[in-house]
Amino acid sequence: MTAYSQLLETLPDDPKVWLITGVAGFIGSNLLEHLLKLNQRVVGLDNFATGHRHNLDEVERMVSPQQWPGFTFLEGDIRNLEDCQRACSGVDYVLHQAALGSVPRSINDPITSNATNICGFLNMLVAARDAGVKSFTYAASSSTYGDHPALPKVEENIGKPLSPYAVTKYVNELYADVFAKTYSFNTIGLRYFNVFGKRQDPNGAYAAVIPKWTAAMIQGDDVFINGDGETSRDFCFIENAVQANLLAATADSKAKNEVYNVAVGDRTTLNDLFNALQAALKENGKPYKNSPVYRDFRVGDVRHSQADISKAASMLGYAPVYPIMDGIAKAMPWYIENAG
Ligand SMILES: NC(=O)c1ccc[n+]([C@@H]2O[C@H](COP(=O)([O-])OP(=O)(O)OC[C@H]3O[C@@H](n4cnc5c(N)ncnc54)[C@H](O)[C@@H]3O)[C@@H](O)[C@H]2O)c1
Repeated sequence: MTAYSQLLETLPDDPKVWLITGVAGFIGSNLLEHLLKLNQRVVGLDNFATGHRHNLDEVERMVSPQQWPGFTFLEGDIRNLEDCQRACSGVDYVLHQAALGSVPRSINDPITSNATNICGFLNMLVAARDAGVKSFTYAASSSTYGDHPALPKVEENIGKPLSPYAVTKYVNELYADVFAKTYSFNTIGLRYFNVFGKRQDPNGAYAAVIPKWTAAMIQGDDVFINGDGETSRDFCFIENAVQANLLAATADSKAKNEVYNVAVGDRTTLNDLFNALQAALKENGKPYKNSPVYRDFRVGDVRHSQADISKAASMLGYAPVYPIMDGIAKAMPWYIENAG
């Protein structure tokens, strides 16, 4: 029995109060769905900067009428300390997801990314510490590896950040470490590597590659590849990221004050991703005939990314179940229904 299947068995009999910041976003709403299905009580905080009410409405449809009242939504902003304090009151486990994602967004507007991702993060740390929560798990990022060339990426070996977004995520780790040293407030950072799945927003200038390309293919639009298509990523299906969060939140103290890679340990080029999405759409009766359109490399992008997940495996019992192809197969029907 894996650590995760054991946790899934025991949690429903021992309901806890979880706070998910960024609950109306992609990862936050998937965490919400899983936790409500496990009969947990969930407080959610979001200001709808990039998240959507329709994500919450969809979760309501996915859980039972008995489970949905376990959710309390607070509309608020992590840049406001009082909102964070209100959200943390009476909470056992914090899953801090709220941030402004996207490297290009941070290049266009570093001030807003900094205010949300650094000042907002610090507010959440202070509020969670003062509320005496049992654990604080936060969304870190593979962007912290920056210009370090080694593959696969091992937690200890990071380079210089390549974007304002990467700076903000690295500063999160520094603050978390300082909170452990100065206040004995131990946290866990999860360095996500290109998470994908249902409810990841396909719209807008800052959409991630999988939802953006899938929506373009469904609509018969051009798909643009930045660079030669040999840029590679360790694409991580959302179910794997949910598993890492639940394991991290409930981990014992020796796993705390650490950061962990959350991915699969695999690497897929953008050219292979294009072919995989095209094949999955064909299988779902939506063939896409166009070839990709190549354009310049994008500033701030890391060339290759692949995680070493052995630290999360040994310390948290993390064992990803979905390789990229299985994740794409599972996510595709949602995109066909919602991004057409
Ligand atoms: N998706 C990925 O591949 C990936 C990779 C690395 C790290 N991350 C991190 O994971 C977290 C979740 O990302 P996501 O993909 O779900 O993005 P998302 O944009 O779908 O979700 C982020 C949520 O945070 C909310 N938010 C933003 N600013 C806020 C504020 N000031 N106050 C309250 N709420 C606010 C947004 O409205 C949104 O609902 C982020 O911290 C992101 O940086 C994601």
